[in-house]
Amino acid sequence: MNWPGVIEAYRPYLPFDADAPVVTLNEGNTPLIHAPRLAEQIAPRGGLQLYLKYEGLNPTGSFKDRGMTAAISRAVQEGAETVICASTGNTAASAAAYAARAGLRCLVLVPQGKIALGKLAASLAYGAEVISIDGSFDDGLRMVREITERRADSRRPIALVNSVNPWRLEGQKTGAFEIVDQLGGQAPDWHCLPVGNAGNISAYWLGYKQYAKGLPRLLGGQAAGAAPIVLGRVVEKPETLATAIRIGNPARWRQAVEALDESGGIITAVSDEDILEAWRLLARVEGVFVEPASATGLAALRQQIALGEIDPAGRTAVVVLTGHGLKDPGTAVEQAAAPITLKAEIEALERYLRG
Ligand code: F0G
Repeated sequence: MNWPGVIEAYRPYLPFDADAPVVTLNEGNTPLIHAPRLAEQIAPRGGLQLYLKYEGLNPTGSFKDRGMTAAISRAVQEGAETVICASTGNTAASAAAYAARAGLRCLVLVPQGKIALGKLAASLAYGAEVISIDGSFDDGLRMVREITERRADSRRPIALVNSVNPWRLEGQKTGAFEIVDQLGGQAPDWHCLPVGNAGNISAYWLGYKQYAKGLPRLLGGQAAGAAPIVLGRVVEKPETLATAIRIGNPARWRQAVEALDESGGIITAVSDEDILEAWRLLARVEGVFVEPASATGLAALRQQIALGEIDPAGRTAVVVLTGHGLKDPGTAVEQAAAPITLKAEIEALERYLRG
């Protein structure tokens, strides 16, 4: 069967009428990868069933495609001709791709110098108007919210496709549906993920509540330099190497806190070093390459097990890996040793192998 994308696959669970237009790149249906070697590393006393939901395998390389198929489909139904978003990069690439497919004009505001190369490259390739601002994601989000409000009553409204748009969450909750289906109808005990603008954690909670038999506890990870929800206050100058989640004032803050409370969950801050260590483990122990921010859920789980806050024995944990490693080739190369250089001669290779 050709997987039809998340709207068709889960239409009875989503608020789309049968005749509503669907703009899709056949997103979703991402693998849930069993990770026993990694489980042993982070829970050495055993008993943890660990699964990786590899969202980097979506059409534009991140989970944003689940929400974007819904937001752009809705924008088309409403007759929008232009869409806009602020982004640390992945939302931009996804909006650009789905807008291209729908024939819409697309503007994306990104923080200058703080967007990973693969995201910039993709946004430009899809033909979006990429606007680089000398401010943060939070500044950009303020600007796009205001401009769409100002245009709301005009003949040419602009559709806002950040996750303040409720259709984004409707699409993204299909991630929870898939995990439940892949686990045979059950929710995991723990659902772990990075938290930036807090749309995804809110969407997953909606999805589990709608679809699962049991409910998981949520574990959210924020980068220590950009951890407003953990600190309980806006961070004016967020900083982290995990640029995707370099956010100081999340739009879905309140909803995320409610979801965390309802689930009996935990939100915690992890250092950039811990994020990189989790990122390395994913690639080297299980062969799964993600962008740094995407390793934050694993870093949080590892931390909470080490602190004794989470007892892994007999538990199932799903870690959402939100974006592909090729999104951020710069960090990957910086973090690794330089490649070995040899003369193109067999003896040089022999000498190298002998050490
Ligand atoms: N992981 C990645 C790779 C992301 O790109 C994002 C958010 C998150 C996690 C956090 O998800 O915002 O729903 O809490 N990226 C947004 C963007 C902000 O513009 O691409 P969230």
